[in-house]
Amino acid sequence: MTKPIDLMGIPLKNAVITAAGPWARDGKSIQRCIDAGAGAVITETITLEAKQRVSPRLFVDGYRMFNTMLYSDLHLEQWESELEQVKKRDSKLICSIWGSSASEIAYLASKVERMGADAIEISISAPIGSRNESVCNHSADIHAFVKAAVEAVSIPVMVKLSYEAAVSPAFLHAIERAGAKAVSAIDAIKGLRGVDIESRKAEMMTYGGYTGRNIRPISLATTAQLRQYTQMQICSVGGIKTAEHALEFIMLGATAVQLASAIQEDGYGVISKLIHDLDDWLAGHGYSDIEQVRGAALPSLMPFEDIKPQRRRAAITDHCDIATTDCNICINGCLYDAIVRRDGCIEIDAAACEGCGLCSSGCPRGIITLGW
Ligand SMILES: Cc1cc2nc3c(=O)[nH]c(=O)nc-3n(C[C@H](O)[C@H](O)[C@H](O)COP(=O)(O)O)c2cc1C
Repeated sequence: MTKPIDLMGIPLKNAVITAAGPWARDGKSIQRCIDAGAGAVITETITLEAKQRVSPRLFVDGYRMFNTMLYSDLHLEQWESELEQVKKRDSKLICSIWGSSASEIAYLASKVERMGADAIEISISAPIGSRNESVCNHSADIHAFVKAAVEAVSIPVMVKLSYEAAVSPAFLHAIERAGAKAVSAIDAIKGLRGVDIESRKAEMMTYGGYTGRNIRPISLATTAQLRQYTQMQICSVGGIKTAEHALEFIMLGATAVQLASAIQEDGYGVISKLIHDLDDWLAGHGYSDIEQVRGAALPSLMPFEDIKPQRRRAAITDHCDIATTDCNICINGCLYDAIVRRDGCIEIDAAACEGCGLCSSGCPRGIITLGW
């Protein structure tokens, strides 16, 4: 077991948090997250009024997931009785809230504090519906909203950000000045599953939140950028499913990670598996404290402008028999005609190679390297 971590002054037994969503929609489901070992559980977003569900609201296409779920379908009083049933044991409870004014946010914040929340996450930016778009993009408004929550409670406040808000230094500054101790990012990205071209209809009735593994690269970049822009702690979310994913975010400076679509796809078991694998990885690499790897990858990132342009060339390290492979990534993708077929095998014409890296990074057998 690795050492506990500190999130906003709260000790968490591990760095794995379950994100706001229907896997934490009531007392029973929150308990399942706790029983699976989550360091903290964030509730589905609580608002003053219950939000009715639309149906269908989940759209899956292979690994692509979209949802049109906005806030909890329980009203505040129901949440009170749901949370009474929860046995937190050594996990922490973070209540996700949203209100349409600063005073509503303050009211909700103090209410969930009295219900036993250890911290608050203000969910400012779901990509579903057109609600509060001005607040979500306007730093003066968000400052007032966050400040209202911070002043209403004695527990720490974290703000959940969309991709757009997370990469806006002015927005982050407003949140920090308002007293938030951490940010979580990213929320789902606005998306549409597709268009049925025969019926000429969109495959969803409205825009949805696009989540899951395909948004991880965006979330990784956001975490690294946030680390540059703000001193606040970062709780990374977006496409995290495995211990390796969690470590990637931690190595880019995240304090903790949140699981969302992974639970929707694989069930609550994914939480305990990730925690177990994370402990194993750290122990196997001789670490007893996640702090020892936090931010470790940041020095390897540099501004594009600082990268010295140098030509490199691809080389092949093993035979690749064209007849036995159905992979043509290198041949089809080389715009410089540097991949040639000779005697049924692939060869590289080093003089023609521009060192773009497509073949070496895309080769499923890993037999193309990029040298000097
Ligand atoms: C079905 C579903 C419901 C969600 N509900 C909420 C919510 O109530 N509040 C919120 O802040 N985020 C909500 N989210 C967003 C997630 O917490 C998370 O930010 C997002 O899914 C990105 O993480 P992922 O790629 O790991 O799923 C929801 C996501 C999904 C898939």
